[in-house]
Amino acid sequence: TERIYIEDKEHPDEVLLKRAAQILKDGGLVAFPTETVYGLGANALKEEAAKKIYAAKGRPSDNPLIAHIAATEDLAPLVLHIPEAGRKLMEAFWPGPLTLVFQKSDLVPYGTTGGLDTVAVRMPDDFVASTLIRLSGVPIAAPSANTSGRPSPTTADHVWQDMNGKIDMVVDGGAVGIGVESTIIDVSGEEPMILRPGAITQEMASKVLGQEICLDPAIISGPISEDVKPKAPGMKYRHYAPKASLTLVEGDAEDVITTINRLAKEKLEEGFRVGIICTEESREYYQEGFIRSMGERAKEETIAHNLYGVLREFDDLEADYIYSESFSKDHLGQAIMNRLTKAAGYHILKIQKEETV
Ligand code: TXA
Ligand code: MG
Repeated sequence: TERIYIEDKEHPDEVLLKRAAQILKDGGLVAFPTETVYGLGANALKEEAAKKIYAAKGRPSDNPLIAHIAATEDLAPLVLHIPEAGRKLMEAFWPGPLTLVFQKSDLVPYGTTGGLDTVAVRMPDDFVASTLIRLSGVPIAAPSANTSGRPSPTTADHVWQDMNGKIDMVVDGGAVGIGVESTIIDVSGEEPMILRPGAITQEMASKVLGQEICLDPAIISGPISEDVKPKAPGMKYRHYAPKASLTLVEGDAEDVITTINRLAKEKLEEGFRVGIICTEESREYYQEGFIRSMGERAKEETIAHNLYGVLREFDDLEADYIYSESFSKDHLGQAIMNRLTKAAGYHILKIQKEETV
């Protein structure tokens, strides 16, 4: 695996990126930065290229890929038609961290869509990504560039850990901006629906559409049951999983700190390695274990940005148990809590105040 470095993201070296683009054109695999997380790119119109992605990630092949484009004109050939809701959302949020699901055209192979008649499309807001896509001259299928089941990569080093030796090239553009994957909105049906929360929030999308947009019920209902299957096939897997067993602790700040300290102490005494996820405000109240702050509680952007890096760090530290504070579900918090809840395998400890009558 070759690694190329982009020194100046606003003026990337086109000679270097042309080499990367040629690999993509020829059906190879190139990991590259986007504003959300690093993607593992391949030619979206070549069935064999998509197969290579599944192999490198160790990902089930019924899990469809997002096609990345560099300009809005590149959308039309990939889809049957562009519904009104899709048009409004594109105009408001592209390029940006929003993926839209449309009815697919015949141009898009089933190998890319995991056998579905719909295709997910996104136009990233990252100059390196869009230059690379433009130079390759084809839409680029790109899942997050992690081994399936591991937290998504937010730096080229994360990609390297998972993909060295398995893909042709890594384009190193430094740390990403946002840190959680794009919002996915399905506009292929009667009513638009959010299939995965992200930096384009429910409020932002509702405002543009002039109506309240709903979340896929499977996102809210938690553990995947037989009757509520998520509409984004990828959401059914225990994604974003750290190697340790992660428990989210919910309740009043003071109770949460006391409980996490107690649980951590118990596990440490049993000889386990324990990690704690906290905030700048609470850090000083934790005593033992690997203590990692996600940033200031009120700064959702910072928390989203640090989330996957912290989870990966605990993997590297070989933590057996992780205890995490929980966060607000407002705005970007919806995406943060969605990823954390899934990383925890829906293992949430709710601390109830004892009723004093
Ligand atoms: O921010 C992102 O979206 C990143 C960067 C690299 O662009 N990509 C990403 O891809 O997160 P991935 O493959 O890790 O997640 C794609 C999600 C999966 O949950 C998948 O099931 C869903 O999108 N998806 C793809 N095509 C779909 C379709 N036609 N219908 C419903 N869900 C779809
Ligand atoms: Mg992923």
